[in-house]
Amino acid sequence: MLKLGVLISGRGTNLQSLIDACAEPDFPARIALVLSNRPDAAGLARAQKAGIAHQVVDHKAYAGREAFERDLDAALRGADIDLVCSAGFMRVLTPWFVKAWWDRQLNIHPSLLPAFRGLHVHEQALAAGVKISGCTVHFVRPEMDAGPILAQAAVPVLADDTPDTLAARVLEAEHKLYPFAVRLIGEGKVQVKDEKVLFRGTDCASPPLFAPANVS
Ligand code: GRF
Repeated sequence: MLKLGVLISGRGTNLQSLIDACAEPDFPARIALVLSNRPDAAGLARAQKAGIAHQVVDHKAYAGREAFERDLDAALRGADIDLVCSAGFMRVLTPWFVKAWWDRQLNIHPSLLPAFRGLHVHEQALAAGVKISGCTVHFVRPEMDAGPILAQAAVPVLADDTPDTLAARVLEAEHKLYPFAVRLIGEGKVQVKDEKVLFRGTDCASPPLFAPANVS
């Protein structure tokens, strides 16, 4: 059983999707700790409600990034975490932290990486005129929104989309994709080789991809 540590900064709907997945008896992971860098993150109440240990490590209370990250790291190690899941965690991590959790930290990003890294992702997608967008779960590397891609979900971009309507459609896909990706790891199907993700097992021979719904 994989022990998850989830890092949040905000509303925590992706955290909720992981909480819900972990409640299923056959799900190969449990959330052992939720950490937020913001005391006012709404996601903390989700952890509380689900009876999951949660803690605030307020980055503002630290003089530097590394001191903040050392406490994050200590909390994760204290809870014996196997896999860190960033879920709307809005702090850039230093190479020190990334190396400490190399191949053991995932992030979810609301675009089909490597397109549209950083912030204002849906504005970027609409400005580029792409017809398909989506979300990506990837292993964390020092460069922001980069790293071996584990799973992606595609959604259509509609002609009358605004950043908000597109964000909502992508978010729905995120809530399916993150538990799906964690399950793959929990079932021991994932290997990172030469900075690419390979899948073990005959039932997972093709890369996980959620196709867009048909648009009439
Ligand atoms: C999600 O869109 C995620 O992809 C991005 O930040 C957002 C977090 O939303 N990294 P929530 O806090 O999980 O609701």
